[in-house]
Amino acid sequence: MSDVAESRTSLDASARTVTVPLGTRAYDVLVGPRLLSDAGWLTATRLGAAKCAVVTDENVARHHLGALETALKQEGLHAGSIILKPGEATKCFSELATLCERLLELGIERGDLVVAFGGGVIGDLAGFAAAILRRGVRFVQIPTTLLAQVDSSVGGKTGIDTPQGKNLIGAFHQPGLVIADTDTLKTLPEREMRAGYAEVAKYGLLGDAPFFAWLEASWKAVFAFEAEALAKAIETSVKAKAGIVGRDETEQGERALLNLGHTFGHAFEAWCGYSQRLLHGEAIAIGMCLAFRFSEALGECAPGTAERVVAHFAAVGLPTRIGDIPAEKPDVAGLMRLMGQDKKVRHGKLTFILAHAIGEAFIAHDVAPERVSEFLDSEIAGA
Ligand SMILES: NC(=O)c1ccc[n+]([C@@H]2O[C@H](COP(=O)([O-])OP(=O)(O)OC[C@H]3O[C@@H](n4cnc5c(N)ncnc54)[C@H](O)[C@@H]3O)[C@@H](O)[C@H]2O)c1
Repeated sequence: MSDVAESRTSLDASARTVTVPLGTRAYDVLVGPRLLSDAGWLTATRLGAAKCAVVTDENVARHHLGALETALKQEGLHAGSIILKPGEATKCFSELATLCERLLELGIERGDLVVAFGGGVIGDLAGFAAAILRRGVRFVQIPTTLLAQVDSSVGGKTGIDTPQGKNLIGAFHQPGLVIADTDTLKTLPEREMRAGYAEVAKYGLLGDAPFFAWLEASWKAVFAFEAEALAKAIETSVKAKAGIVGRDETEQGERALLNLGHTFGHAFEAWCGYSQRLLHGEAIAIGMCLAFRFSEALGECAPGTAERVVAHFAAVGLPTRIGDIPAEKPDVAGLMRLMGQDKKVRHGKLTFILAHAIGEAFIAHDVAPERVSEFLDSEIAGA
């Protein structure tokens, strides 16, 4: 065996592999350091030789595109790279249209691959483009934010935002492979790292109390990029998501638990115009604190539970209250309107993810809007 082949074999073995169990559409999520430089080989060995069109944003391109292009070129896979503006605003119809046309210009055909290389914005947009291009082409996720590595790159939800709300246009389209190189996180701004951490904590809060307790003890090691801690945090999160997606791919039931904190959170993001004032993960952090406080207010969980959640997020440096949002105070009617646009609305009643305890989230259908507005009133008054 050549030296290169040998080092690749050991590298592949050192990566943690989580399989998303979807039958004939099952795919691997590879988690570990130094994966990017072998991305071409990892892709070719799993998905066969195919032309790859890389979709990325300017920030990711600046730090990491050279390494990915080299890796793809080594295997003769690189068809071209499309570099988009960073930020949530890119997840829109006009960018989608341009992206699809540029992918066609690169000659991407049914057997080829779109490579989504970036955070959740690029993953959602490029994944959706792959879902509709030529009625569906395959795609690979190479997530470069913590949020994308633990959440958005896995599970096949793709889509864009509209002025009416987030992610209201989209498709389920599973990737063929996810390559989460933990080294790429080292160039991520700390604020983005913290925002992604909110989604890591979400898995503990929704279904894994020991994991949440471990995070309370180990979060500093995760932020210090200690290899074992970082890999454990990401792998545990991906395993949790893969399990849920495997049981409920299209969110007929259990998958909704992943929306813990999202009904409130999406409304806050919309309130801030999807701007840098409030990142997705920050909105979700506040949303999760509210979901626990709301659970307490409804008598669903023991007093003091929300305080533990708030204490952990505050220690990490995440916002926990409506008052932490750097915008004018929202009004209840405005927030209720924005929550009404959320996909979690059925016959005028809201579906919320509430909790009986840390690690015991449940889906509450038919939450009366009056209870929600009463609760939000008190939250805003105390903000
Ligand atoms: N599909 C899903 O299941 C799912 C789940 C959760 C969130 N999302 C979506 O994900 C999006 C948020 O994703 P995000 O938080 O990754 O945001 P993002 O994609 O906007 O990335 C955050 C910022 O970090 C920069 N960046 C990315 N990787 C970098 C790196 N390695 N080094 C330096 N800078 C880097 C980006 O350019 C951007 O400025 C939202 O649109 C949300 O709706 C989707």
